[in-house]
Parts: sequence; C-alpha cells; structure tokens
Amino acid sequence: MKTIVISNRKGGSSKTTTSINLASILAKKYSVLLIDLDTQGHCRIGLGVKTVINNGSHSIFKGNYLTENMISTSLKNLTLVPADESFDVYKRSIPMGIIKKRFEEESIDMFFDFCVIDTPPTYDAILKNALEVADIVIIPTIPHYLGIVSVEQMMKAIYQTNIKMDKKMPFIGILPIMFNPHIKTHLQVVSSIEKSFGKEKVFSPINIDIHLAKQFEYKKPIVLFDKRTRGAENYMQFTKELLEKIENI
Ligand SMILES: Nc1ncnc2c1ncn2[C@@H]1O[C@H](COP(=O)(O)OP(=O)(O)O)[C@@H](O)[C@H]1O
Ligand SMILES: [Mg+2]
Repeated sequence: MKTIVISNRKGGSSKTTTSINLASILAKKYSVLLIDLDTQGHCRIGLGVKTVINNGSHSIFKGNYLTENMISTSLKNLTLVPADESFDVYKRSIPMGIIKKRFEEESIDMFFDFCVIDTPPTYDAILKNALEVADIVIIPTIPHYLGIVSVEQMMKAIYQTNIKMDKKMPFIGILPIMFNPHIKTHLQVVSSIEKSFGKEKVFSPINIDIHLAKQFEYKKPIVLFDKRTRGAENYMQFTKELLEKIENI
C-alpha cells in the first residue's frame, strides 16, 4: 500500500478537493482508503456520505480502531474513514505514532492499494501522525507569493518529522491549483517554484474551474459526474503523472 498525504498549512488550498478527486480516480482501478483528518469533515460532504456517525478518524487517538470507523461510499473500491467533526484537538494531548500503529496492528496494507489522507491546515500532532506514514506528500498550492512560502513551510515540516522518525524521505510533489494561464503572476510563480524545488517535483496545474467549487454542493467529486470539464481533465492528468512518478518508490 502506498500512502499519499495531501497537505498544506494554508487553508483553502484545495486539499480536500484534491483528496476526493484523486481518491475517486484511483478507485476506478485500485482499492482505496480515504482518511479525513480535518475535523471540518469536508471529505464526507464532497463524497455525499450522509451517515453521521459518533466516531470517526480522530477516535483512533482515543484508542479506537481504524477499521471500526470505515464506511463505504458510492464507489465500490473507495472506503472512507470520515473525520470526527466534534473532536476537540486542543483538549487532548495526541501522541505520535498512532496512525502507524493502527496501520500495522490492523494490517491495513493487506486490504488497500492506496491510502489518501486529507489533513487539517495546522502543524500539529495530527499532521505529524500523518507525515509519519507518508510515502508520498502532495502539496497543493495557489500560485502566488504566499503559496511559495507555504510550500517552504511544508517542506520544513516534512524534513523535521522525517529526521525525528529516522524514516525514508517521502516523494514530495507540488500541485499548482486554481491556476489561470492568462495571469502572468501565475506563470511566473509556477516557474519560480520549479526553479526552487526542482521541475520533477511540480505537476501540471489544476486550473481555476467553477465546477470544482460547485462539486461540494452536488456532493460528488467532479471526476465522477462531469469528466469533460477542465477541472476533471486536470485531475486525471495529475493522477496519471503521479502514478508515473511514484512507480518505482
Ligand atoms: N481549482 C479550483 N477552482 C475553483 N475552485 C476551487 C478549486 N479548487 C478548490 N476550489 C474551491 O476552493 C475552496 C477551498 O477548497 P478546499 O478543497 O476545501 O481547500 P482546503 O481543503 O485546503 O481547505 C472550496 O470551496 C473549493 O470548492
Ligand atoms: Mg479541507
């Protein structure tokens, strides 16, 4: 099983949009587990999962199992562990290594080819728990100056977690999002990201597309209901590039 963590400490940077579309595309061919670690619970909304359950992903930090929190989605091969929307991150001290332990003890990698993890916009123990199990980290970023800053901050967070854990560095990819090819700044920022972090790390961008904003209202990832839209085409291309880049890791 390959674990793909979608992360950027900047809010509103398409983490959830990327998580649900990537997971849905992968689920056409592979068995996929999507774990929502953001208490806002937007993965559930984006996938149209109505069931409100008492527990959720965050209950593993209170001793629960991942498997008992898994629910099926409209896609046969896509299983969701929704967020615990009432979990108070600040009320608990969250130990490290919990997700890793759940993966190992519950043999999660025997059941899934990919695990996609959507993360909160904070550099806290929850994000560090996710980075501990990451084989791949995708940083979706808006192509403007603060976008570059947030990529630098995420890189630091990944390196720090890896040094502490003494683990193999994950493959890190940067995905420019809400891109508009007619805006000069967007083109400049993407080229500057390529120069700073290496062209091989940067994916073809996801354009700004109103259909992507509307998918939460429709409660379905765009790649499942409107494949001909620019946003859907971009996410297909991103997934294709990702599978090529991670083939040998
Ligand atoms: N490429 C895009 N074009 C237009 N709107 C987008 C795009 N990507 C995301 N959005 C919208 O931007 C908002 C933030 O995206 P979201 O995926 O929820 O970010 P995050 O999970 O990082 O907070 C949402 O309303 C979403 O629908
Ligand atoms: Mg989100």
